[in-house]
Amino acid sequence: MPSPSIMMGVISALVAGVAALHARVHDDTFTPDLVLSVTRQNVSVAGIERYSTLINSSLPAPMLRIPENQVVWIRVHNEMVDENVTIHWHGLAQAAYPFSDGTPLASQWPIPPKHFFDYELKTLDGTAGTYFYHAHVGFQAVTATGPLIVESAKPPPYAYDDERIVFLQELFNKTDAEVEEGLVATPLRWTGEPQSWLINGKGISSYGIVDPSSATLSVIDVEPHKAYRFRFIAATSLSYASFGFENHTNLEIIEADGHYTKVHSVEFLQMGTGQRFSTLLKTKTCDELKSFGKLDFYMQLESRDRTSVVTNYAILRYDGSKCNSTISTKDLHVPVNANPLTTPIQLPPTVNGFLDYVLQPLEPNDFPAATEVTRRIVINVQQIVNQWYAWENNGVRWTDDASDPLEHTTPSKPYLVALYQNETGYLPNYELAITNGGLDPETKTSAHVHTTGPPAAG
Ligand SMILES: *[C@@H]1O[C@H](CO)[C@@H](O)[C@H](O)[C@H]1NC(C)=O
Ligand SMILES: *[C@@H]1O[C@H](CO)[C@@H](O)[C@H](O)[C@H]1NC(C)=O
Ligand SMILES: *[C@@H]1O[C@H](CO)[C@@H](O)[C@H](O)[C@H]1NC(C)=O
Ligand SMILES: *[C@@H]1O[C@H](CO)[C@@H](O)[C@H](O)[C@H]1NC(C)=O
Ligand SMILES: *[C@@H]1O[C@H](CO)[C@@H](O)[C@H](O)[C@H]1NC(C)=O
Ligand SMILES: *[C@@H]1O[C@H](CO)[C@@H](O)[C@H](O)[C@H]1NC(C)=O
Ligand SMILES: *[C@@H]1O[C@H](CO)[C@@H](O)[C@H](O)[C@H]1NC(C)=O
Repeated sequence: MPSPSIMMGVISALVAGVAALHARVHDDTFTPDLVLSVTRQNVSVAGIERYSTLINSSLPAPMLRIPENQVVWIRVHNEMVDENVTIHWHGLAQAAYPFSDGTPLASQWPIPPKHFFDYELKTLDGTAGTYFYHAHVGFQAVTATGPLIVESAKPPPYAYDDERIVFLQELFNKTDAEVEEGLVATPLRWTGEPQSWLINGKGISSYGIVDPSSATLSVIDVEPHKAYRFRFIAATSLSYASFGFENHTNLEIIEADGHYTKVHSVEFLQMGTGQRFSTLLKTKTCDELKSFGKLDFYMQLESRDRTSVVTNYAILRYDGSKCNSTISTKDLHVPVNANPLTTPIQLPPTVNGFLDYVLQPLEPNDFPAATEVTRRIVINVQQIVNQWYAWENNGVRWTDDASDPLEHTTPSKPYLVALYQNETGYLPNYELAITNGGLDPETKTSAHVHTTGPPAAG
């Protein structure tokens, strides 16, 4: 097992290496590969009007497709006047580019109003797949989020004709500030259920429609008799999702969280916050559509594990013109401006342990077998209910708010900034961490020891 001094050596090498990399000044003369701009504005969505944080004024934010194993620079402008922002690239390992993780007060200072930050991303070889990106300050992520696809130069290991995105979000009629205020209040004021789910940025709320023009269902267009890769992204904040298609019950999972899997067939999906799946969907043939007598099929999304169930829909729409005139008539479509009158499908109650231990990696991934484990770190995660609600890992609490009323648990500057400035007081103490279940109680960091790469912070 490496000694603490090896670990510190790795950190120094990392810091020196990063200093050399950053010799180039990122001013207005630097041309990033991609540019994003964060604003706050009133948006009308699912029939509701809400003051929301948006990336490039779009809900969801624009889809980014980045190449595997190549450096990509993304400049993020904070155009808000009264809010900080950072962007987190959900699911990407940032071992070589830790300053780009987008975690305020861990990897960086938040981007102040009217400033920008250049994120340097380089995905690892073999991690082509489905990700998303989102703002990481306050409750901004509920709307400031979009799909992120990592593409390999090699063809994917499964054949399909085309792909579609199913991007899931919640819509609350409360503002970010109201939700956040309630969640950090004493006693906690629960936000309540969302007023709607959004599928690809659209939906029809069951409550308080003030603008019927934005109350519309998403339509995902497909052609008959093709194979599609459906990329599901649960870019949700507080809700657990159950999802199914009407009359399409063979979903073949081929990817989970950015890694290809062996094929595993399911009839529906359950998705927790941050999860992604790709499934292959073989669309109906023209003959099948003819016997169904319809070209539209509902997609149904329901919340789980709460006292009330929020249900919303989207439409899988076939292009009937590919099937000769017999089936290409308009009355085979359902309206986009109304939810179905009766619930089309019966999604099962919560399946506990959904997909646990059943997905297998497509390629061997060197993951150690249980018999090869040499050290176990137990992380005891608790929501303390003692007048306050707060998440703790092994009794250590994290907050990115320096004005936290409980106690000052965060560093006064981001860890990586402090380490960059050679402040050794921020170095995780390996011995202390070992004797405290893996978490150093002084710096509030965990001491992961890597012999071949830089240590992870946070
Ligand atoms: C986001 O908007 C900016 C202009 O504000 C534009 O230059 C940029 O190309 C847009 N980014 C994407 C990914 O569409
Ligand atoms: C957003 O809408 C609210 C309520 O209608 C209004 O008070 C506020 O001025 C609007 N804000 C902006 C930036 O347009
Ligand atoms: C932005 O972040 C800085 C550093 O944490 C903090 O001092 C400041 O109050 C924040 N600004 C806003 C508007 O939240
Ligand atoms: C938000 O939605 C809830 C129903 O979920 C409703 O009771 C409440 O009045 C709504 N608030 C506003 C401001 O529309
Ligand atoms: C449409 O009709 C033409 C002529 O009968 C036939 O060749 C073709 O296969 C049909 N296409 C489909 C999708 O059924
Ligand atoms: C299609 O789905 C509907 C709604 O769940 C169901 O009533 C119907 O039996 C299904 N049709 C077939 C052929 O499976
Ligand atoms: C940190 O220490 C390294 C190695 O001694 C030195 O090269 C570097 O200039 C220092 N950085 C700062 C910000 O003081």
